[in-house]
Amino acid sequence: MKVAVIGGTGLIGSRVVNVLNASGHEAVPHSPSTGLALLSGKGLSEALPGADVVANLTDSPTSDEAALAFFRTTTKSLLRAAESADVGHAVVLSIVGVDLVPGLVYDRAKVVQEDIVKTGSVPYSIVSATQFFELMDTVMSWTSDGRTVRLPATRLQPIAAASFRP
Ligand SMILES: NC(=O)c1ccc[n+]([C@@H]2O[C@H](COP(=O)([O-])OP(=O)(O)OC[C@H]3O[C@@H](n4cnc5c(N)ncnc54)[C@H](OP(=O)(O)O)[C@@H]3O)[C@@H](O)[C@H]2O)c1
Repeated sequence: MKVAVIGGTGLIGSRVVNVLNASGHEAVPHSPSTGLALLSGKGLSEALPGADVVANLTDSPTSDEAALAFFRTTTKSLLRAAESADVGHAVVLSIVGVDLVPGLVYDRAKVVQEDIVKTGSVPYSIVSATQFFELMDTVMSWTSDGRTVRLPATRLQPIAAASFRP
């Protein structure tokens, strides 16, 4: 099966590409570093033709309000291109319980992304993972203050990126 892996150079995307190729599929990574820029649409028309599946493993460069525009714009244009190229299935990586944290703009942006996929015309799978251990430093930097470390009231159950099964 041919899989276009958008964001295939990232933390998860690069692992997904390796695992798919090792399993006998043909996974092709696409991202700004390979010449595909979803925000401008550059490279999009060449990335999808011939793919059976498109996996969206992109991430917004920031977690602020701009993340809302990033996920809205990139998800819509990717699905539009998938529909034109007759791609049979779209996979999106999301986060467990993302709709339970409306106070976090990044989580709201992921809910927007999920809603666009759910209301689109391309058959889809939304894979929800818990946070990866690799994100722990970032999370601690949000909640630590000098020598005081605050842990969130909700339970965190991180997994290692390497344990994530595409
Ligand atoms: N990290 C976690 O704990 C976690 C948990 C659950 C779900 N997720 C979800 O998993 C997804 C991937 O996360 P990650 O940690 O693997 O991200 P990452 O390492 O930051 O990788 C992001 C990927 O997106 C690409 N990208 C950025 N802007 C793009 C654009 N305009 N057009 C096309 N591609 C673009 C990057 O390309 P370049 O390499 O060329 O910059 C890179 O390949 C995210 O949607 C995130 O919400 C993450």
